[in-house]
Amino acid sequence: MRLVFVGPPGAGKGTQAKIVCLKYGIPQVSTGDMLRAAKTEGRLPAELVAKMAAGALVPDDVVVRLIDQRTREPDCAGGFLLDGFPRTVPQAEELEAMLAARSQRIDHAIAIVVPRELLIERAVLRRTDKRTGQIYHLKYSPPPPGADLEHRVDDREEVVLKRLDTYEAMTAELLPHYEGLGILRRVDGVGSVEEVTARIFAALGTP
Ligand code: AP5
Repeated sequence: MRLVFVGPPGAGKGTQAKIVCLKYGIPQVSTGDMLRAAKTEGRLPAELVAKMAAGALVPDDVVVRLIDQRTREPDCAGGFLLDGFPRTVPQAEELEAMLAARSQRIDHAIAIVVPRELLIERAVLRRTDKRTGQIYHLKYSPPPPGADLEHRVDDREEVVLKRLDTYEAMTAELLPHYEGLGILRRVDGVGSVEEVTARIFAALGTP
């Protein structure tokens, strides 16, 4: 199974991706996580660090290269879930060409739909455990005592607003692109994590 998760910042892509990947036994491939790891290891050029901190997208060729390399790794042979990629139509087209050259394709694109007001609260109060990568929310899924928490620099409210604007401009074309391919499934992302998971599995036809 090869899946794409599309959704605005704070929609729950990362939270749901971890659950879906566990169920299908496929790796979660998140361009955001890969870029943040490169930053932590000092491998991300300063101009890209600045773009991410400001809530702007990094150039298409950078993320396409990351995805090309990562999806060639052996654990991706049986499928993968792309979390946060593609974000633009050129990225989607590069992905399709890359997979076609390997006689592969994306099976489903899941769009997680959440209203803007909720997204701001979800992103601003998000915390991630630096050691485990587990995602928490100070109000909806509080971290356990002793967790080594990180507050993403792009989760400050003014940057979240910028990221939401960027997302809205981008999906104006991306969602119709996947609709045209007949593989887009829209899922309501409002409700508990468990409710949203159930909707995603229903959309994928998995009991
Ligand atoms: P990225 O890391 O991909 O961020 P994003 O797409 O903005 O998504 P988020 O990680 O903010 O949210 P999420 O949907 O995963 O939500 P989560 O599950 O954490 O990208 C970061 C940056 O990298 C970009 O701005 C860009 O600069 C660059 N980049 C990445 N990919 C790129 C690409 N393809 N092209 C160009 N640039 C790229 O949940 C959020 C919070 O809500 C958590 O606290 C969680 O606990 C909580 N929550 C989740 N579900 C629920 C629920 N049902 N009810 C209540 N709370 C919930």
